[in-house]
Amino acid sequence: MNLLSRRRQMLIAVASLLIGNSLVAHAESNPEEVVKYRQAVMKSLAAHMAASAAIVQGKVSYKDQLADHAKALEAMNRDIASLFPKGTESANSKALSEVWSNDPEFQKHAKDVQQKSSALAKTVAAGDTQNYGARLKDLQESCKSCHKDFRKKEEK
Ligand code: HEC
Repeated sequence: MNLLSRRRQMLIAVASLLIGNSLVAHAESNPEEVVKYRQAVMKSLAAHMAASAAIVQGKVSYKDQLADHAKALEAMNRDIASLFPKGTESANSKALSEVWSNDPEFQKHAKDVQQKSSALAKTVAAGDTQNYGARLKDLQESCKSCHKDFRKKEEK
């Protein structure tokens, strides 16, 4: 083995060490911050849903903004399961432990919400006004169905 390839190997070793460290730092990001982050993302979903509903129901006339809300919903719902890494069960979180103990079922809900928000975005992009209400309702049902199984009930 010549000197050059040995030096190259060393560089690769150092580089992978650096990359490895940053991945570890990411994986270990403070669980409480992850909980706050996912609640913020969830609230943003609810806000886009409420804004979309106001437009679709004709309460406001921001029709040209519906596609933006639909796109935001589609983007944020692309990988909702990633908001729930292991180790983020917490007293400040309303996520039930089933999120982690019944992963296949949770993933099914995550996939469903992804499909329903894509369907809404497509319908809006196509200008298929007849179906806006139905697609929005489908999406809302998808949110609710995951909350029913995986989110703690609101305290009364
Ligand atoms: C795959 C399951 C799942 C789907 C789908 C889902 N959610 Fe959630 N949602 C949760 C869980 C679990 C929590 C509790 C998170 C926590 O407190 O850590 C939550 C929390 C929330 C909250 C409360 C946030 C807070 O501040 O405490 C809102 C609002 C919300 N979701 C809206 C939505 C909307 C709107 C949709 C559909 C577009 C949606 N969610 C889809 C699982 C889901």
